[in-house]
Amino acid sequence: MKSQDRAVMRVLSGEKIWPPPIWMMRQAGRYLPEYRQVRAKAKNFLEFCYSPDLATEVTLQPIRRYGFDASILFSDIFVVPDAIGYPVRFEEGRGPVLEPLSRDLIDRLEQEQAEDHLKPVIETVSRLRAELPAETTLLGFCGAPWTVACYSVAGHTTQDQVAARVGAYRDPDLMQRFIDELVTASVRYLIRQLDAGADAVQIFDTWAGVLDEAGFKRWCVEPTKRIVTGVKAERPDAKIIGFPKASSARAMSYIEGTGVDAIGFDWTAPDSLALEIQKRVPIQGNLDPMRLVAGGAALEEGVEHILRTFDKGPLVFNLGHGVTPDADPENVARMVELVKKG
Ligand code: CP3
Repeated sequence: MKSQDRAVMRVLSGEKIWPPPIWMMRQAGRYLPEYRQVRAKAKNFLEFCYSPDLATEVTLQPIRRYGFDASILFSDIFVVPDAIGYPVRFEEGRGPVLEPLSRDLIDRLEQEQAEDHLKPVIETVSRLRAELPAETTLLGFCGAPWTVACYSVAGHTTQDQVAARVGAYRDPDLMQRFIDELVTASVRYLIRQLDAGADAVQIFDTWAGVLDEAGFKRWCVEPTKRIVTGVKAERPDAKIIGFPKASSARAMSYIEGTGVDAIGFDWTAPDSLALEIQKRVPIQGNLDPMRLVAGGAALEEGVEHILRTFDKGPLVFNLGHGVTPDADPENVARMVELVKKG
């Protein structure tokens, strides 16, 4: 089957398909017992991401179990700073820890080493394309520069990214230098994923929603636009999904400013606004992941609401953010069943 004939790709080209194709952010993850089993084999999380055998296996798990229409490469947004020499580590029970941003660290970054460093991830992409069912869309991804940078300013996550915001106000030049390095590395990385067999790519901007108007333009829209333009200059047919979380009020300026082909919404997006956007570009989303924890009527109502509201245009059914470890795998099965009924 040709890439453009896969269901998710057809929607990304503007076609309405019903029932809509479905996949789930973080679909390979701790809510699945088979994931936890493989995860236990890896010494640390980044090594897990750099093991083509393990990464391929966990990427395929949710496809086997649920038959999702798209598969997302198992990796993490922090392989990009890691690849250019920015110190990153994952602490058990705490998540990613990046060294605090400094001029010294930025001076030492090296773009040239990234290609070698990311080879195992690219190998995972090739293997996935060979092993996935022909009709399954394969998605690659990267983190948006702002979201990656957020974790570097404080060295860890802070509430509403207070440290990153203060850091960007106090020393915008330093932030800009890091963002520029991430843009360069992300363009190259996404092109390689596409060349290795990814049908489309998604840019995750989890922390776009904490920015003010000027910050949103400078730290979210501008860098994303440079990534989209950079990828499309080399691969004009590439399809790119943007996910600027908690930014629905700015969705129109994001689409116009970045040139993404489709946009993902989180569950706080007003229907009226998402419907307006759906007239312009395909939309993706936006079930509250907590409905997969609660199950029952909350799940049924949430899925039905999305199906009944967004059935006028192109929709890729998804969650509004990643599935959480406490989601019940049976509830995920029920969600897929409901969506497949249309
Ligand atoms: O969606 C998928 O199935 C593909 C794989 C994927 C992961 N992370 C695997 C992962 C993707 C697309 C990501 C993106 C990512 N990583 C984002 C953007 C999207 C989002 O969820 O907001 C961000 C901000 C990160 C950074 C990150 N990685 C954090 C904050 C953490 C720790 C929190 C947590 O959930 O543990 C991770 C670790 C991580 N990345 C896990 C997985 C499956 C869990 C780690 C484990 O198994 O121990």
